[in-house]
Amino acid sequence: MKQPVRIAVTGAAGNISYALLFKIAAGEMLGSDQPVILQLVEIPQAMDRLHGVTMELEDCAFPLLHGVTLHDNPDSGFQGAHYAILLGARPRSRGMERADLLEANAAIFSAQGRALNKVANPDVKALVVGNPANTNCLILSRNAPDLSPSQFCAMTRLDHDRARGLLSTQIEVSLADIDNIIIWGNHSSTMYPDLHHATIAGDQPVISMINDQWYKEEFIPRIQKRGSEIIEARGQSSAASAAQAALAHMRDWALGTDGKIVSMGVISDGSYGVAKGICYSFPCVCDFGAYQIVQGLDINEYGQEKMKVTEAELLEEKAAVEHLLPTE
Ligand code: NAD
Ligand code: LMR
Repeated sequence: MKQPVRIAVTGAAGNISYALLFKIAAGEMLGSDQPVILQLVEIPQAMDRLHGVTMELEDCAFPLLHGVTLHDNPDSGFQGAHYAILLGARPRSRGMERADLLEANAAIFSAQGRALNKVANPDVKALVVGNPANTNCLILSRNAPDLSPSQFCAMTRLDHDRARGLLSTQIEVSLADIDNIIIWGNHSSTMYPDLHHATIAGDQPVISMINDQWYKEEFIPRIQKRGSEIIEARGQSSAASAAQAALAHMRDWALGTDGKIVSMGVISDGSYGVAKGICYSFPCVCDFGAYQIVQGLDINEYGQEKMKVTEAELLEEKAAVEHLLPTE
């Protein structure tokens, strides 16, 4: 039997968490032979609700769940964590843009970055889901100077899977046959969902199978605004699909993608001319517990313009939280 790994989850009494924790405990993140200890982090006012969730976890009698600990602060909650999934944040409500959440959530992520730096396992992998995810991730990483920027990601996997789903319906092909979709940039309405590299069944280019007008005027805006579409319909933001995407992101990061491209918000190293140091979604492959940005893809003029727009938004967000970023 493997040693249990420690997975810290913030916002653990919230909606996404409620759809996520039970899957992690069932082995869907790290495999059916990997025991886990869940370290659940909340704000003090939510601890009663968190106790309720914990009772339900106990009642499921998951064989892989070797312990659950409850914390009202990140300094104890992140202790020894091998993985950290950061959901805890104020969610967007009707009419709000994700950027409105910037200031409210920035303070949370700087404190959590310091805590990860101090008490987490030195190899911790941290995924930021709480919005605005990319810039929260940047704040987190910059406040953890002893950890590598490559240990931090923001989640754009939900956008990636939304794009796969919508494309599969439109061209009536099986999801399993679709590869190489890419989300570039920010998890916001400026993201660039790119189908120029996408293929069906290994080699058929998607771009030759779709109508350019549908791609530019329907597909791209629909993916960019899917979060809002769900908020309008449900009255609250996506939760089950976000949980599924977080699970997929972490599983792929830890166990590998077998050469397949996934979209991950990572700290830019300057690839594709994107400003260094912002958290930008790139096409990535994962192996041996690490991601690599896929290099050498041709980007046409249309794509380059779109990539610049979302980069500019991330640079603006960064400027707005500069006071929370310790000097490098
Ligand atoms: P929710 O309001 O149901 O839950 C959030 C939880 O976080 C609450 O229980 C709250 O008490 C807790 N929390 C707040 N501040 C905290 C802190 N400092 N430490 C620990 N816990 C804290 O929200 P949700 O629906 O679970 O969504 C969580 C976040 O995920 C939101 O920011 C939402 O916008 C974002 N989201 C991102 C994506 C994505 O694709 N990146 C998708 C869906 C939702
Ligand atoms: C989503 O994409 O569903 C989430 O980021 C929620 C939101 O605020 O759009």
